[in-house]
Amino acid sequence: MLEIKRIKTGIDKLDKLLQGGFPKNSTILLVGAPGTCKTIFINQFVDKGLQEKETVLYITTDHSPREIKEMAIEFSHNFKANENKRLIFLDAYSWRTNEEKSKFAVTGLTDLNQMNITLSDALVFLGPVKKRIVIDSISSMILYTDADSVARFLQTVSAKSKASDSCLVMTIEEGVHDKKTINMLNFVSDGCIKLKEEDGKRFLKIIKMSQTKHPLDWIPFDIFGEGIDLL
Ligand SMILES: Nc1ncnc2c1ncn2[C@@H]1O[C@H](COP(=O)(O)OP(=O)(O)OP(=O)(O)O)[C@@H](O)[C@H]1O
Ligand SMILES: [Mg+2]
Repeated sequence: MLEIKRIKTGIDKLDKLLQGGFPKNSTILLVGAPGTCKTIFINQFVDKGLQEKETVLYITTDHSPREIKEMAIEFSHNFKANENKRLIFLDAYSWRTNEEKSKFAVTGLTDLNQMNITLSDALVFLGPVKKRIVIDSISSMILYTDADSVARFLQTVSAKSKASDSCLVMTIEEGVHDKKTINMLNFVSDGCIKLKEEDGKRFLKIIKMSQTKHPLDWIPFDIFGEGIDLL
């Protein structure tokens, strides 16, 4: 049987549950309420890509690139040294502030066409190598436009990601959007992981993962020095 190529998530025990990681060129949705570690997961996925000598496009709507680099230091992720080489930010945050903008930045979140063009430019800049693309978060995009437009936009991004040998991981807030929106975005994705906090404990669940046999139960995790690890 032909074995499917996998992308390591950055969480070794999760990779074991996923037969090695996310399927190559897949689109993955991370769903969770505020504070359930979506951004930490994303940063760990980015760090793993850099370790694997892949290139990364980080689309950020909720934090400035500076904030993300500061967060990375806490978990010993070396984003700064890789910036503008194998890691580039598509800055969809700093239009709100006077902070210095990245080379790839948008002037707001209402114009998804501009986002699309900037994303294509960024992918060309990174060249024809294996890539990781992350979007943190889709919720802010929906806030400034609407769920249907964002779902259509993400279908295009997902197609571009697959065509450029990339694995796309994106986050969405749970409890902010209606069920139809989450279902629609789940439909656009090849895989979905849910994160939750309950009674002071953290859990994740693999809701779906194409081409993968995986458990369906809630798996406890915690945050350690290097980030998330399953218990
Ligand atoms: N250095 C750290 N060590 C241990 N725990 C941390 C550390 N930094 C953050 N946390 C925990 O992780 C939580 C936030 O994680 P994160 O920012 O990834 O959540 P999120 O799901 O992205 O939230 P939001 O929806 O608000 O963006 C914090 O509330 C805190 O409990
Ligand atoms: Mg976050």
